[in-house]
Amino acid sequence: MSDTLEIMSPERLDRLPAVEAGLFYLTPMAEKPYTVAYRTDEAGELPTNAVYEERQVAIHDARAAAAGLDLDREGVAFLKSPSRVRDFYDEAELDAVAHAEAADLVARVTGASRVEVFDHTLRRRNSDLPDRSAGVPRQPVMRVHNDYTEGSGPQRVRDLMGEEAEALLKRRYAFINVWRPLKGPVVDTPLAVCDARSVAPSDWVASDIVYKDRTGEIYVATWSPAHRWLYFPRMTPDETILIKCYDTRTDVARFAPHSAFTDPTTPQGAPPRESIEIRTVAFFD
Ligand code: OGA
Ligand code: FE
Repeated sequence: MSDTLEIMSPERLDRLPAVEAGLFYLTPMAEKPYTVAYRTDEAGELPTNAVYEERQVAIHDARAAAAGLDLDREGVAFLKSPSRVRDFYDEAELDAVAHAEAADLVARVTGASRVEVFDHTLRRRNSDLPDRSAGVPRQPVMRVHNDYTEGSGPQRVRDLMGEEAEALLKRRYAFINVWRPLKGPVVDTPLAVCDARSVAPSDWVASDIVYKDRTGEIYVATWSPAHRWLYFPRMTPDETILIKCYDTRTDVARFAPHSAFTDPTTPQGAPPRESIEIRTVAFFD
């Protein structure tokens, strides 16, 4: 086997240098967790019945292994892919340029015959403001999660694809997020991704996300010592992380946990992280 393949073995990933940092996992609970996803008042946390516990984990610097990561094996890919977007805060430019770029990128990396982009989220850390405050970007997500579940993957295809849905549901499809910093290098609140191979199905707990007009379902994770965490220090806007968030195929990576984290090595006064994640669904022939 070539070095490129060998470098991705779990043992090799485990030997990469790491920072020790806290990640927030769901405390196991009897009821189904829910979180309200819209703000009814200006301050405070969004209503939820879930309690998260901080666990110290090793988050490995995966730059030396980045080229060998595979969306179907680790559930994560890392790419150099400069964007032509001039102003990421220009919504029209995002819809016109960033969405098409993300679709092309996912098609190229996965071999999918069709990729639909249906959403994007801008984030800018501001510890003085709670998440989903009006008029400002979202905050980084400080809990271990995956954006879809076994149930909400197909439901999302139904919601998005209209009359085509039933035919598309018969093919292989996968939900993949394209994550990119807006400014770099990112030293504040980077994104950690977890090798999907290190996650057991029993680590996942389906959780309701209650919007005004619909209820979505994501996975939140309970802690396991097996989880193998990776990150890419000092990411620049020319670089992207692809995150597999759902796959109909059951013999490949299907759900890659991820979370923002506070890096203990971040210098005081580092500029707050700004990022975009573009949500795609890839259909295969
Ligand atoms: C995502 C995500 C969190 C963050 O891209 O799906 O959960 O803090 N991002 O960027
Ligand atoms: Fe996410």
